[in-house]
Amino acid sequence: MADKTTKNNLFIAFEGIDGSGKSTQVKLLAENLKNAGHQVYATFEPTNSPIGSMIRSIFSHQMEADHRTIAGLFVADRLDHLLNKTHGILKKLEEGYTVITDRYYFSSYAYHAVHMSMDWVIQANALSAELLRPDLNIYIDMVPEISMERLSKGRSAIELYETLDNLRLVRSKYLEAIERLRSEEHIFITDGNRSPEQVATDIWQEVAQLAVGKMS
Ligand code: ADP
Ligand code: TYD
Repeated sequence: MADKTTKNNLFIAFEGIDGSGKSTQVKLLAENLKNAGHQVYATFEPTNSPIGSMIRSIFSHQMEADHRTIAGLFVADRLDHLLNKTHGILKKLEEGYTVITDRYYFSSYAYHAVHMSMDWVIQANALSAELLRPDLNIYIDMVPEISMERLSKGRSAIELYETLDNLRLVRSKYLEAIERLRSEEHIFITDGNRSPEQVATDIWQEVAQLAVGKMS
């Protein structure tokens, strides 16, 4: 496990349904953290590794796979994301970076619990949770009607999980997982249905507190 106890760098995960504004907020938070003196490494899941590329082929309908196989691929992709010797998250944290990831294990709890038991998904990700729990999970809450509208403006193709009915189910699974893991995870919920600047200000208030807490 990465020993971050004597360092002030953080590990922050962004969560939310497709189109909720995660990548926009990753950029804004990274800027705020850099201005506050952090070295920032921003990353995402599915990753760009061979496993992540396989997942993207499935989402873009070039390859077919069962939902349970997809859940398993994400477990492997996440372990590589953590453990990769050159650019893994644990390595980056050891080097002193504050790491922000666009999606982590809560995404699995929400997206895969639509098709299989949430217990199984949590168990399958137990090693990742043991290796590294986020200092903060930021969940951007958003109704799928609005996120779908946003996505339709910027995209020509619809990916596997990007339907209104599915995103409604995913949102309810996010809320269920948050309720369930409230005592063991640090979770901040922010309302994504505001301007990017308003959401970023809300998030920065929470993260700044955490950064100060870590330094004292
Ligand atoms: P995600 O990474 O969660 O899929 P993005 O950050 O890519 O979401 O945002 C999806 C789309 O919505 C983009 O076109 C982005 O410019 C736009 N967007 C992001 N945040 C907001 C916001 N707060 N209000 C309106 N549009 C937004
Ligand atoms: P992403 O590229 O983050 O999509 P978006 O920017 O639209 O939010 O993620 C691609 C898809 O991967 C998204 O539909 C959510 C899904 N996903 C899972 O199903 N399980 C997971 O564990 C993760 C990390 C993502």
